[in-house]
This record gives sequence, structure tokens and C-alpha cells, in this order.
Amino acid sequence: MIINYKSPGTLEQTRFEKIHSVIFEDPKNASKIVANEIAELIKNKQKKKQNCVLGLATGSSPISVYNELVRMHKEDGLSFSNVISFNLDEYFPMKNDNIQSYHHFMSVHLFSHVDIKPENIFIPKGDLTNDEVNDHCQKYDQKIADLGGIDFQLLGIGRTGHIGFNEPGSNYDSLTRRVHLNYITRNDARKSFYGIENVPTTAITMGIKTIRKSKRIVLLAWGQNKSSVIKKAIENEIDSNIPASFLQKHNNVTFVLDNSSSSDLTRIKSPWKVGSCKWDNELKAKAVIWLCETTKKSVLSLTESDYNENNLSELLLHQSPYEINLEIFNKIQRTITGWPGGKPDVEDTYRPERASPSKKRVLIFSPHPDDDVISMGGTFDRLVSQGHEVHVAYQTSGNIAVSNSDVLKYVEVYQSFSNKKDEELISLLKFNNEILNNKKVRNIAGLIREKESLGATRFVGIPDSNVHFLRLPFYETGSVKKSMPSLDDKKIMSNIISEIKPHQIYAAGDLADPHGTHKVCLDVFFDVLQDLKSEKFMKDCWVWLYRGAWHEWETHQIDMSVPMSPNQILRKRKAIFYHQTQKDNVMFQGDDNREFWVRTEDRNRAIAKRFREIGLSDYAAIETFKRYHF
Ligand code: F6R
Repeated sequence: MIINYKSPGTLEQTRFEKIHSVIFEDPKNASKIVANEIAELIKNKQKKKQNCVLGLATGSSPISVYNELVRMHKEDGLSFSNVISFNLDEYFPMKNDNIQSYHHFMSVHLFSHVDIKPENIFIPKGDLTNDEVNDHCQKYDQKIADLGGIDFQLLGIGRTGHIGFNEPGSNYDSLTRRVHLNYITRNDARKSFYGIENVPTTAITMGIKTIRKSKRIVLLAWGQNKSSVIKKAIENEIDSNIPASFLQKHNNVTFVLDNSSSSDLTRIKSPWKVGSCKWDNELKAKAVIWLCETTKKSVLSLTESDYNENNLSELLLHQSPYEINLEIFNKIQRTITGWPGGKPDVEDTYRPERASPSKKRVLIFSPHPDDDVISMGGTFDRLVSQGHEVHVAYQTSGNIAVSNSDVLKYVEVYQSFSNKKDEELISLLKFNNEILNNKKVRNIAGLIREKESLGATRFVGIPDSNVHFLRLPFYETGSVKKSMPSLDDKKIMSNIISEIKPHQIYAAGDLADPHGTHKVCLDVFFDVLQDLKSEKFMKDCWVWLYRGAWHEWETHQIDMSVPMSPNQILRKRKAIFYHQTQKDNVMFQGDDNREFWVRTEDRNRAIAKRFREIGLSDYAAIETFKRYHF
């Protein structure tokens, strides 16, 4: 039974898709609908005096579903008294009370908040001896079968395409068993284990067959990082290298996606291939750039047959290829400017920024203390050298990303210099490689990041008085998991904008950040913009969103492109180097093992290459921005 899910799209739109999938703007709303389906099932079964057998997943994807179920229990009286739950997996070896265990995860996110009977909770055991594992796994499958099978199975998907811990190569008929974890999976888990070397190499997981036998399956996938594997699972042929593709054979499965995780599906990436489109300027630009990439031609050399042969004949109904080519070429060409704060005293109709006022007040919001130079260091440098009054506001302290050995180094220097000894602090730092839930250490770590930031901003050339450390409270939990933003966060952001009254605000629109800090910072910023938009000074304020640390704007989304010369690239690199604690073995690197300066430089060069390939000027590197209209 599928309830409350919007239509997945017309048959034509989904004709490349072999799994029923629904796309939501926002994972939170999507999670509510999934939680609702689970709650309805529990209640229906309650009415019939039956047990409801749930298969549950861990990881970041189901957290909002569990939050909503907990809310329903507390506020709407949803009872879990008839629920019997089976978790997909557990690391092996792993003690139940270890904070990295899935036992602990389930208790924190669901079980300790609802009235499920402890004897009805089943999670594979990570604390058995090797000899006990096989028997335990067989009994796990048997128990599920004895209870009549799983009524509803919730899944996430790994970047390897795994479901549960069924890694590539898993068998279609596999049962619950001990498995070896894929390197990518272990790497993805390293943040919670403080280093890949601490992530167990094996786990116990329900098998593909165990999962397939569930009566209803819902798989959740959020974020850009999942887009490529989602496309493979949904659109490609079934392949044991993408275990989630086995679900194509299930007759009651839904993939619940957000805009980012669905972005590689054909109906989103190249909708003209699936049917008639509602053409607007952005879609037209997207199609033409896609056509350039497909035909390996520049915009101005695309021909009528290129359009016709690649499902884009619809575009030729109202315009000639020549007119379309020119329109899109000009659109992209006009995004390019060496004057990100506007070029003074020139006609600006086709320029991305206004000429006047010629000296602007600029406020750069940087979620962590380094995103400013990583993501827009070249533009920052130009704004300063072109005489604008540039301020930077570092939204969070970034303190958890400083390793204990770095904190120790600074503490030891200070203590030798000042002749003050704090042996307790030194030994705490020396013998611990986990993030310390210790305020003093966090405070020092935050200060280190502040001083590093000042190194960079002084190098770019702004006075210290223009550098603002906001230390937003939502970030200050001392762990990877952050609190929900509160009114205090909003007030701090609102105050700084009202104080500076900027003509330009730059903010990170980089939503692939693996810990969500950028997303929270952006959400708070958008909220504040709504509150402030009626203020007189805001009428003159333009907002530009940058990306770069994790991923990049697509070419058709760009509104301003700021080219960099080889020398400017080196200056940007140097500014990033001031953030020394974030170099080399940086603690929270995400999926990309390159250092931040390497990946941003690669991206800036890649955009320049993209521009060159579609027939625009040949630059060494380019930073890009999208204007946000509020
Ligand atoms: C968790 C599990 C895994 C995760 C998957 C996605 O019990 O079995 O398959 O669902 O690795 O993890 P997140 O949701 O953290 O991206």
C-alpha cells in the first residue's frame, strides 16, 4: 500500500525508471510522509490486534523519520506496543554500549523515546565470538520468518549502492551473514570513528533475500553524494555491483528522494529526453550546455541536426538554432566579469553587478573559518583590491575540526612561554585521539581557527575590525551532531547585517557539506533575509551564493563568473594555507581525499575548461556565483 505519496510523474517522464520513485524538495517533508506511512501501518495492525514487524535502518538518512515517529508518540499518542523491530545490521566486533554501535544509535534516535517493548527489539549482535555468528544469523532470519516476515522495511543506500551492509558483489539470494565492509563504506563511517583505522572491517547484515522478502520497502536517499548511485540503481540494468538495483524486482518498493539525490535521473538531468518540456531561460541554457557536452561542440557551432538528433527539436519550434546559440552564448558570456563589486562608471545593463555605488560595503558569510578563501578567495581578493569595504563574518567556530595534537602544540608553546603548567590538560590532549567533549579544549581550538583566519584576512588586506567571529550557538555541541538553530543564531546573523548594511552579501550555497553546517547556516540566513527584507537598506542589497568546497554550480545556474589569472590562483592558494590546521590530514574531509586547496583549485580550473570547451574565452580558473533574489 502506498499512501500519501504524490504521483511520481507521468509514465512518459519515468520511462527510464525501473523503480517507483518520488522526489521531494526537502528531506524533512519527505520524512514526515514516510513516518506517516509507518504510523498508519502500526495503527491498522493495532486495530486488528496484530503485531507490526518493522525492518529498521541506521545512518543519517532515517533520522528525521525517527524524529517524526518520536513526535507522533509524544504528541499524538502513537503507541509502539505492537511493534517488533529488526535492524538491518551491526558492526562486528562491536559492543552494544559503544557510542558507535547501531544498538546505541537506535536507542538514541528511537527506542528510548517510545513505548516499544525491549523484548521486541532485535538487532544483529556485534559482541559474539566468531563461532557464534553463523548460528546467530540463521536464528535472526528464522525469527523474522516465524513472525510472518517484515511488514515494512526502511532502507538507506550507501555510495557503493549497498543496502544494509550488502556491499557490491552481494548475492541476490543472500541471507543474514557476516560481511566484509567496502573501503568507501568504511571511509564514509570514519568521521564517527575518528579515523578510518578505527572503523571495523566487518559487520553482520540482513541479506538481500531477507530484505527482498519484506512486504513493503521504502528507501531514503538525500543529498548530491547519492545522485550517481541512485541513477544506477533506478535506471540501469540489475547489477550485483549495485545491490540496491536488486530492488527492481520487488513489487512494492518506493525510493524517496530529494532534489539533490534525484539530480542524475534522466527526467531531471535531461528532461527533454523523456518528453515535452516547459521551457524557461534556465532550462534552455541547461539543454544547450548539455548539447555542447554531448556533441563535444561549442555553443556557436551547434547545428539544426545537433538539436534534432538529440531530442531538442522542440526548442526549434520558436527560434532558429542560430538565435538560440547566440542567446545562450551571450547569457553565459555576460556572467563573466573581473569586477565582482561592479565596474565603476560604465553602462551596466548586461553586467552581473551594478556599477553604482562604486565603493560598496560587502559582507562575506563563511560557515566555517576558511570557506571564504576556499570558495571565493579570488573574488574576495579582487573586491579588496578594487577598494570595496569588505567584511567577513565567520558563522561557526569550526572548533571540532582541530585535532587534539594541534591544540596540544599551541598549549605547549603557550605554557613554555608563560611558564604556566596545566598537566591535566596536557595529558588529556596527549592520550586522546577523539574529539574531546571538553569546553576548555574546544575554546582553544576555536581560538586557533580565529587566529588562522586573521592570518588569511590580513594577507588579503582587510583590517581586523572587519573580521567578525559569530560563533553561532547551534554549532557548539562539541560533536559532529549539531543542535537545531535557535532564535539566538538568527539574532546574531540579523545584527551583523543590520550593523554593516551591506550592498552585497556573499553566502555559501554549498549544500553537499557532509555535516550539514553549511545548510543550517544558509537556512538561518534565508530566514533572516525574510525578516529584514522590508528594511530600507536591504533594497540596495544583492545576495550572491558561492560554492566550491564540496561541489560547484552547474554552468546554466551561474549568474556571475569571476576569472582568475595564474598569479591570482597562487594568491588564493596562499590565503588558504593560513588555515594550517585544515591542511594535510584534515579531520572532516568528506568523501574527497584531496586537500581543500587542491579540490577548489581543480574545480576553478574545471569551470574555466568548461567555458573554453563551449567556446568562451580561455581563462586559467574561474569562481562562480548565483544570485539569490529574496
Ligand atoms: C544502516 C545501513 C546502511 C545505510 C547506508 C546509508 O543501517 O544499513 O545501508 O543505510 O550506508 O547511510 P546514510 O544514511 O548515513 O547515508
